[in-house]
Amino acid sequence: MNILVVGGGGREHAIIHKLTESPKVSRIYAAPGNGGIAALAECVPIKATDLEKMVEFAVSHAIDFCVIAPDDPLVLGMADAMEEAGIRCFGPNRAAAVLEGSKVFSKNLMKKYGIPTAAYETFSDPAEAMAYVRGQNRFPTVIKADGLALGKGVLIAEDLAAAEEGIRSIMEDRIFGQSGSRIVIEEFLTGPEVSVLAFTDSHTIVPMVSAMDHKRALDGDCGLNTGGMGSIAPNPFLTPELLEECRRSIFVPTMEAMNQEGRPFKGVIFFGLMLTPQGPKVIEYNCRFGDPEAQSVLPLLESDLLEIFEACADERLAEVEIRFSDRAAACVMMASGGYPVSYESGKEISGLEPDGQSSRARIYHSGTRLEDGRYYTAGGRVLGVCGSGATVAEALEKAYQAVGSISFDQAHYRKDIGRRALEAGK
Ligand code: AMP
Ligand code: GLY
Repeated sequence: MNILVVGGGGREHAIIHKLTESPKVSRIYAAPGNGGIAALAECVPIKATDLEKMVEFAVSHAIDFCVIAPDDPLVLGMADAMEEAGIRCFGPNRAAAVLEGSKVFSKNLMKKYGIPTAAYETFSDPAEAMAYVRGQNRFPTVIKADGLALGKGVLIAEDLAAAEEGIRSIMEDRIFGQSGSRIVIEEFLTGPEVSVLAFTDSHTIVPMVSAMDHKRALDGDCGLNTGGMGSIAPNPFLTPELLEECRRSIFVPTMEAMNQEGRPFKGVIFFGLMLTPQGPKVIEYNCRFGDPEAQSVLPLLESDLLEIFEACADERLAEVEIRFSDRAAACVMMASGGYPVSYESGKEISGLEPDGQSSRARIYHSGTRLEDGRYYTAGGRVLGVCGSGATVAEALEKAYQAVGSISFDQAHYRKDIGRRALEAGK
């Protein structure tokens, strides 16, 4: 089969790497792909959000199956456009992708169907939002822009002044653009965070091995929120009992709620969970694999990923086997100095083999460019360095050994990926 994978980051590299193991795959295109992906797939310079060109390419290149990995094309309706053109694809349609595309939608869905989440109110008038935080006078409080904001649309306000400033900057100054025309203000939750990605065809939902992201830029969970600086899988905080509770109170009810709303979801639902003292609660939904969660979850998948993708699209997920290894994986993200604020690109990367890999660990490229056989940085997040082993500790050791052998000017990485999980004695 000819496969087109939409996207060009580490998540897409991990998806493509897994797809190359499928005997059904003959050729893979990636749009736009990146320097590291180029070793496994033909990269096509089409922007992930360019629906028209993407469909045109799929039709003219006899694509048998399209995998839409990032959130923005899904929210824009790329799955609908592909299907209209007769191209089978993996990823929710526009009606279902609203689960991630609108926080107001997802919060109201959870309220309506009794799915545990932080208590909240929604606002489209800044004055009302201000009056609400003043009246509540409970801090910290959490302010979220309604729409997509590159994972940055969440502000945690420690006091009234910060909350008022947050509301002003999102709703009036529009620091997240149109995403800020409506906001959610919600209760601040505490507890370990867990990412669970689950395959669903709208009838069956199958959670993958759990993961833990590390969103803050600096060690000790300090600094700004990023797209994710590293991940481990499995997440030791999610015990089998808690997983079962999540399945019963969150995973299945979410799939069924989307059916009830006439928005059947086919693809990956990403459950961002917090294990609070009152039980697991949903922090956010995403309509796709996480990045860098995919880089530590997919290497543990032992079944054929293309078969699973096809089964989701054809609504026969119950028929396929989805098996994960009981080993562990870890991904340490090497980023450009200054990320997530401002950073320079175009730095030459040393320590990689000609195919962009390392002999010590698997490398999933997030933002690189290949030119004349050399790799250069081309983004905030540059390389996801991924180790695997019998335990998370072993996987981390391998990943960090490889990180030590790779360098570029002003490279920055966190030195404490997975430490909290290990220290909790899990
Ligand atoms: P999100 O972009 O929704 O994943 O939020 C980014 C991060 O903000 C999450 O990973 C949490 O660490 C934090 N966060 C979001 N919502 C809450 C909440 N209600 N209480 C505490 N922390 C939160
Ligand atoms: N790692 C979080 C996300 O992909 O949204």
